[in-house]
Amino acid sequence: MSGTLVVGSQWGDEGKGKVIDLLAQNADMVVRYQGGANAGHTLVVDGKKTVLHLIPSGILNPKTKCVITPGVVVDPEKLCQEIQGIEDSGVLQKAEQLLISDQAVVILPYHKAIDMAREERLAGKKIGTTGRGIGPAYEDKASRKAVLMRDLFDSNLAEKLAANLVEKNHILTELYKQEAVKVKELVEQIKVWAEKLSAFRCKDTSLVVHKALESGKKVLFEGAQGSLLDITHGTYPYVTSSSTIAGSCCVGTGIGPKEIKKVIGITKAYTTRVGEGPFPTELFDEDGKKLQTQGHEFGATTGRTRRCGWLDLVALKYAIRINGMTEIALMKIDCLSGFDEIKVCTAYELDGKTTEDFPVVMDDLSRAKPIYKSFKGWSQDISKIKVVTELPKEVSDYISYIGHELATPISMVSVGPDRDQSLFLKDLSH
Ligand code: GDP
Ligand code: IMO
Ligand code: MG
Repeated sequence: MSGTLVVGSQWGDEGKGKVIDLLAQNADMVVRYQGGANAGHTLVVDGKKTVLHLIPSGILNPKTKCVITPGVVVDPEKLCQEIQGIEDSGVLQKAEQLLISDQAVVILPYHKAIDMAREERLAGKKIGTTGRGIGPAYEDKASRKAVLMRDLFDSNLAEKLAANLVEKNHILTELYKQEAVKVKELVEQIKVWAEKLSAFRCKDTSLVVHKALESGKKVLFEGAQGSLLDITHGTYPYVTSSSTIAGSCCVGTGIGPKEIKKVIGITKAYTTRVGEGPFPTELFDEDGKKLQTQGHEFGATTGRTRRCGWLDLVALKYAIRINGMTEIALMKIDCLSGFDEIKVCTAYELDGKTTEDFPVVMDDLSRAKPIYKSFKGWSQDISKIKVVTELPKEVSDYISYIGHELATPISMVSVGPDRDQSLFLKDLSH
């Protein structure tokens, strides 16, 4: 049995898509276990870019089965568009390449409308969501009202929607002054999506994943978002609405924790964040702008500019702890070329005291001031380097320091977006 989990160590967009695509070349199955189309995972192969939101990032490998589990919130409209895209490009050749759980929660247009209207109303206090209806859909799940994938094919769909819309239409029209959703129109829309998605239906993805693990297949679990966006352990309330940490994989997929042998923390060599919320190492100066420009830090889902700052070891040690990370993949180190000085946050100053413990209370985190260690930068372009030993000394020093401080092996260093711009310090394959 062999299960490897890939999880974001920071606030998302660390490069999870790239690593999953890379490892999927040697995997039988890639499994998405939480989140929805708020994710934007970028894969680049021989210069050709693919951005995925819901479809697991193993899909470019025709022999790898991709599974969307019950833990995911599925927007059928977005999923149909995404499937169409990979059908048109010839990536999806047979329906067996993709399985969608019948138990997954469905995101409908009214979830997105409520998400966006709510954000608008919060004005100065907004979360900065992606507007993809994630919060409202998980709310429905928790209150046991959710429309599930299997309902899209059920003859009682109109009845279920009508019951749900009593409340939703009240919220939409009375609170947000928007138009009410008409059941009949929505049912017609859903019929079109259901027709497209029916070929990918799977009654019990937990069983499929379990059987794969039992027969010794290589299974990769794909996390979305990042550890600090976790609904319970992240920077609440500036988080997403799912649990994003490694433990969530067991819940979302329906497998036991002993199936997960490795937890790879995907870690950007600096830090970024999209949306609102505390970010101790955020830079508002020229260095921040330079990171943003060199890292092309624009959201893959919403196109928003990502906030940028130096690497934060306090936050990373916390992420390693709450996920049980066994190794780190250090991403985008090429984007640090050209800085005279590179900084790493080693501790926080909080109310006159130095601490290396990540403050889990948001107000404390907002007051935390980073304490930095400085490193000499490098000017060389390292994006074409093929082996670790050829990296300039300053880069090696930076990597070694991080690995040592985190007390977690760095098994891969990424020097560019392309699949082949990856340097291995240790064999990451199973
Ligand atoms: P994800 O959400 O974690 O999958 O990450 P995103 O795809 O949202 O954002 C990561 C961005 O960085 C994408 O545009 C990737 O193509 C790009 N990327 C990934 N690894 C590297 C790297 O090592 N160097 C550079 N320059 N870009 C990278
Ligand atoms: P990937 O998988 C970065 C952020 C949003 C917002 C907060 C809540 O590509 O790393 P939501 O729409 O989930 O209710 O928004 O979470 N967010 C992400 N930030 N990468 C992501 O996904 C994100 N998914 C959600 O910007 O701050
Ligand atoms: Mg992303």
